[in-house]
Amino acid sequence: MDVVFFAKILIIYCTLVSITATGSPICEELNQTQLHQMLAGYSPNALSLGISSGTTSTPSNTSCPISYGAGAPQSERSTCPWYNVENTDYTRYPQTLLEARCYDCDNCITELPPNGLHAVWECEHVLSSVWVLQINYSSCVNGIYQYNAVQNDIATACVCGRPRQS
Ligand SMILES: *[C@@H]1O[C@H](CO)[C@@H](O)[C@H](O)[C@H]1NC(C)=O
Ligand SMILES: *[C@@H]1O[C@H](CO)[C@@H](O)[C@H](O)[C@H]1NC(C)=O
Ligand SMILES: *[C@@H]1O[C@H](CO)[C@@H](O)[C@H](O)[C@H]1NC(C)=O
Repeated sequence: MDVVFFAKILIIYCTLVSITATGSPICEELNQTQLHQMLAGYSPNALSLGISSGTTSTPSNTSCPISYGAGAPQSERSTCPWYNVENTDYTRYPQTLLEARCYDCDNCITELPPNGLHAVWECEHVLSSVWVLQINYSSCVNGIYQYNAVQNDIATACVCGRPRQS
């Protein structure tokens, strides 16, 4: 009996200690309106690249689309065609950014035989350096997590690049 009673007391005591130990002050993230306003002060920022997660899907076939159909968008008519993927980071605002990936073309598309690809020139990503907000979960000031404005390089298209001159 005494052992059971003691065990119960111990459990209650341990529960109280763990609540006290993890009882850090409640901290909140800024809401979407506030984050949008904050990021708008930086230029160029990632606001135009931000999308809702799950709205873009990677094509199932990413091999080089040498031919294209009527109404093909610029991203497919390009001599270095590209598609978009979602780049997601839950500690960042915007959480999901649209990012370009080159299709798997070994070289730039041309009209030259034998295979319709240029012998030397290769496809390269075009990078844009844009400002985003990165949340710092270790820093809570007046009940609000702190954010750092940082620059991310995001690919926005693919272009045909001639070799760098040495
Ligand atoms: C965001 O927070 C601000 C400041 O607390 C508040 O005035 C505003 O109503 C909130 N907006 C939304 C959409 O929750
Ligand atoms: C993938 O796309 C390439 C080029 O558009 C095409 O030649 C090939 O047949 C496709 N493969 C499949 C499995 O659909
Ligand atoms: C996050 O906040 C902690 C505590 O204030 C600070 O020591 C740390 O340097 C911050 N990290 C960044 C990336 O700003």
